[in-house]
Amino acid sequence: TLQEHDFFMLKEITEQPKAIKQTLAGRLTASSVSIPELDTFFEQFQMESFRKVDIVASGTSYHSGMIGKKIIEQMLSIPVEVSISSEFSFEHGLLDDQTLVIVLSQSGETADTLSALKEAKAHGAKTIAITNKKRSNIARKADCMICTNAGPELAVPATKAYTCQMTALILLAIALSEKVSGPGNKMTPDMLEALKELPNEVEKCLIMTQDAIDKFAQVTDDQDHLFLIGRGLDYVLALEGALKLQEVAYLHADAYAAGEIKHGTMALFTPGIPVIALATQAHLREKTISNIREIKARDAYVVGITTIGDESVAEVVDEVLYIPEAHAFFMPILAAIPLQLLAYYAGTVRGYNVDRPRNLAKSLTVE
Ligand code: M6R
Repeated sequence: TLQEHDFFMLKEITEQPKAIKQTLAGRLTASSVSIPELDTFFEQFQMESFRKVDIVASGTSYHSGMIGKKIIEQMLSIPVEVSISSEFSFEHGLLDDQTLVIVLSQSGETADTLSALKEAKAHGAKTIAITNKKRSNIARKADCMICTNAGPELAVPATKAYTCQMTALILLAIALSEKVSGPGNKMTPDMLEALKELPNEVEKCLIMTQDAIDKFAQVTDDQDHLFLIGRGLDYVLALEGALKLQEVAYLHADAYAAGEIKHGTMALFTPGIPVIALATQAHLREKTISNIREIKARDAYVVGITTIGDESVAEVVDEVLYIPEAHAFFMPILAAIPLQLLAYYAGTVRGYNVDRPRNLAKSLTVE
């Protein structure tokens, strides 16, 4: 049960409501957000002087970055590119003093991300680091550091570091949007409400999904492949869900944009193959459902993840998991919970040490 923390990974998964509270602490005002760490940065630089934003990170942090890209782009109407650190260091687009580079690293020590940060600075870009380690190399080298305050994460798989990074990115997107005058600023009251409610909603996700996910993990014990599909932010989250299953359960898991499978991957779908269909983005649900129908026609075993109140997903899948509904930007935080639990249970049912996956390290200090 959630009370028995056999592994740090489960402890850290269940700690997320508290960790997110810590990320938010002191950063919410009655009508907006305030990130004091940004004040000095904006005394030196004007948001209007930036022509583009680059987000750079590795692994799970890269997946937060992909979500951050979509949120910042929508809120600021500024082009945002997101890059894998190890690629960015030697191959990047336009990078100059009108570029704002946001680096994401839980440990603050990932060598690939540190090199990318140095490269950005060498080109005159201005840099903000979001990290969980205040006294890290990346924190020290960036022009501005925002700490996620998630508390120590000891298990190699990133769980609370991920949801706290996404929370910090939403806070940052709101804060940056307020530095832009005019139509760039798209902060809405429902976003503020969602931020305030976030720790409670994450708690609800833990309670609502744990048992069903545990059972699903047991029945997929003998499977060698698993697919995750979704559209928009759900697709990005699917990538993270797949990484977690690979890392923790040594299961070949792959994520696809739901509309893309018919362009090739469908050939791999055999009867009984497990598929997780993420359908948390209300405006994309109908299209995702038509993709689920295509997969069901091949007799795959589909678990749908959708929000409370939706009845349409249940009609087309074998099993459905419900999570609370929130503003679209927040759904990848809420829907991450069942995916993390799935990796945990799939790993433990196979008898693995989920805290220390083979061949991996918590902090990768070589390029
Ligand atoms: O410390 P960082 O956020 O820079 O680490 C980046 C990746 O190595 C890390 O997120 C890795 O992918 C996780 N172990 C995945 O769970």
